[in-house]
Amino acid sequence: MTLSVEHLSFSYDRQVPVLEDISFTTKKGDFIGVFGPNGGGKTTLLKLLLGLLTPTKGTIAVQDTSPKNASSRIGYVPQMRRFDRKFPISVLDVVLQGLLASHKGWGGYSHKEKGRAMSALKQVGLEEKADGPFGTLSGGQIQRTLIARALVSEPEILMLDEATVGIDPKALREFFSLLLSLKGKMTIVLVTHDLQVIAKEMDQLLCINRQMTLFAPEEVCQHFAMGLYHPPLYRNDKGGNR
Ligand SMILES: Nc1ncnc2c1ncn2[C@@H]1O[C@H](COP(=O)(O)OP(=O)(O)O)[C@@H](O)[C@H]1O
Ligand SMILES: [Mg+2]
Repeated sequence: MTLSVEHLSFSYDRQVPVLEDISFTTKKGDFIGVFGPNGGGKTTLLKLLLGLLTPTKGTIAVQDTSPKNASSRIGYVPQMRRFDRKFPISVLDVVLQGLLASHKGWGGYSHKEKGRAMSALKQVGLEEKADGPFGTLSGGQIQRTLIARALVSEPEILMLDEATVGIDPKALREFFSLLLSLKGKMTIVLVTHDLQVIAKEMDQLLCINRQMTLFAPEEVCQHFAMGLYHPPLYRNDKGGNR
């Protein structure tokens, strides 16, 4: 599915703008990177794309409909939060939560739904953990479980918010190779500070710092990749950043 954002502005309190005049369009199957300083508005942008927030100004179209209407076709991996590791839930149950929107009735999950959850776990390489407790997984495994939860509904767009925070280098490599295996099969929007390795695989890079600056992958300089933003962030007339 395509995303089309035109002159989008947003503020939580209708006074201080969090996002201002953001415009971009994506093609089907694009891999989009979103980066920028903390508090720049990245998570807010994702929530607008998901239809969880409504623009103050401007429009967002997902394919030819509104984000709210398209939300069942979007998989979302939220920014990781602390959770209670003692909470008794299996890895498979976490993945099944991804089917709640389409699950009918109050009963348990069907054989077919469990099959879909198992194949999502297989996609992320965690099928042998299915019956284990979610609370005992490593950071990288937790993250892959949450990706499986987003994939189980077979979304056409996958959005991931800072999915690489707090995972070790090995898990980071596994995460990137998982993303590359999904690349082209669905539109991917990845919010990340870890740009070094993955930027060259991306079709567009959006730097969000209230306003948006668009970069081609080869334009992302070392400083940005290291998380050192140099405000004001602007491009010169030749299209490069300085
Ligand atoms: N629910 C909220 N209510 C009011 N202000 C918020 C809320 N969520 C985020 N903000 C503010 O909006 C700005 C952008 O936040 P956010 O989108 O989380 O940025 P990022 O994800 O880039 O770190 C910040 O100044 C933040 O304090
Ligand atoms: Mg955020």
